[in-house]
Amino acid sequence: MDIPWWRDAVVYEIYVRSFADASGDGVGDLAGVRERLPYLRDLGVDAVWLTPFYPSPMADGGYDVADYRGVDPLFGTHDDFDALVAEAHGLGLRVLVDIVPNHSSSEHPWFQAALRGEGRDRYIFRDRPNNWQSTFSGPAWTQVDDGSWYLHLFAPEQPDFDWRNPEVRAEFLDILRFWLDKGVDGFRIDVAMGLFKAEGLPDVDDQSFMSVSPIWGQPEVHDVYRDWRALLDSYPGQRMAVGEVWTDSLDDLALYVRPDELHQSFNFAWLEAPWSATAFRKVINDTVATVPFATWVLSNHDVVRHRTRYGTADPGTGLARAKAALLTTLALPGSTYLYQGEELGLPEVENLPPEVRQDPVFKRSGGRLPGRDGCRVPIPWSGKGDSYGFAPEGVKPWLPQPPEFAGLSVAAQAGDPSSTLEFYRRALACRRELVPAVPYELEWLEPAGDVLVFARGPLVCALNCGTGPAPLPPHEDVLLTSGPLDGGALPPDTAVWLRRPVSQPARGARGGPG
Ligand code: GLC
Repeated sequence: MDIPWWRDAVVYEIYVRSFADASGDGVGDLAGVRERLPYLRDLGVDAVWLTPFYPSPMADGGYDVADYRGVDPLFGTHDDFDALVAEAHGLGLRVLVDIVPNHSSSEHPWFQAALRGEGRDRYIFRDRPNNWQSTFSGPAWTQVDDGSWYLHLFAPEQPDFDWRNPEVRAEFLDILRFWLDKGVDGFRIDVAMGLFKAEGLPDVDDQSFMSVSPIWGQPEVHDVYRDWRALLDSYPGQRMAVGEVWTDSLDDLALYVRPDELHQSFNFAWLEAPWSATAFRKVINDTVATVPFATWVLSNHDVVRHRTRYGTADPGTGLARAKAALLTTLALPGSTYLYQGEELGLPEVENLPPEVRQDPVFKRSGGRLPGRDGCRVPIPWSGKGDSYGFAPEGVKPWLPQPPEFAGLSVAAQAGDPSSTLEFYRRALACRRELVPAVPYELEWLEPAGDVLVFARGPLVCALNCGTGPAPLPPHEDVLLTSGPLDGGALPPDTAVWLRRPVSQPARGARGGPG
């Protein structure tokens, strides 16, 4: 079988409103993305995933879509989109777009009609609410003028579709066709384990379960992905789909990536693992044992940036661990999803004042939950001005950037071999060179302990999660390190790529601990 492009791809998530603002309104846009495509080519990624740029009242940063075939003037025009795709392809970058099928915006014409009493069966209206809570806190039901209630698993401005209605199903197939005909290479599917709710909408005792619950992961959803897969396969060029699937276990995740369903699914178990070789080892083993095509994610626009997650009390540790985790991630079989700004080592911005926060999670929880604005602060491109180069001079970005962004900007880091940016560039270039030479399978060289050591053919990766230096595994060459080595030893919070000695031939077989 030919290896599909996405199997080993490094995909870069562009949270469009925070990436680059060309129009000068303080919000990132498609023209801003276009201008920065050469930066992404030089960074060494294979594809970009664009978060929603569709017409939207922006109640949830664009994940409340009012027109699934349009471009919001905030983000540009269809011409901008077409030019972006053409230029990306010209640079050898594939383009994925975000599809939001669980809910629309309350401004969507279908929901507006439903409010007038027309076509209500496209959404979930009931006479009485059940006890479900919104993922963004507060009840999952809102009452309308005639006294009935509609379901929204997220904000009230995001009414859930009724996927048991064939019209909804047909509409989404048509939306996929629309973007496929425009040349996109694939889709990121928002809340992919949502869509269907259990018949009768029974109350739940504990809403924290994501896999087996009346709310999520209903078996009917898989038929939808079978239809979508058939559609994607009917187009030339290996079009693909990756699901945002939150589950309680990797076994449940594997259901979404059966051969006739989605090509990939985000592996959030990797992102959720604590800083521990044992925990990392377990996720790696479970992943390669359960899913045919692995993906690895450390950060995205919904979670605290991993530099801060790993940070403990000392930000230096957070950055060292973030770089070590990246090097380990890039050595694993499968594809990696990066989140904009991680290549700059950006931290979570934790001290945004309440009045600038926009995430509905913050507002709906009455400020009890900080929400996700802290990982969505606009990217610093250069050390100067009102927005560190995110927007034209004199324009303030939609979220304020902290002063330390000056020293973390692209301009401040480019060309400095000790910078995080140059480390990412080196790691991605080295990976690109190595991928064709290494087998997909991994082999454990250290089956236990605080140091994670695995090999894929000639490549050995070691990550020290312990508290003291560890001896380097046998090697012929040191290819790359996430931080300085300590003589011949691997310091804590550091990862290394080594070339395996010829005298220790690769087994090429997968081995698990024990
Ligand atoms: C997904 C998106 C998130 C959004 C939610 C509702 O989890 O990644 O940003 O708020 O879906 O659409």
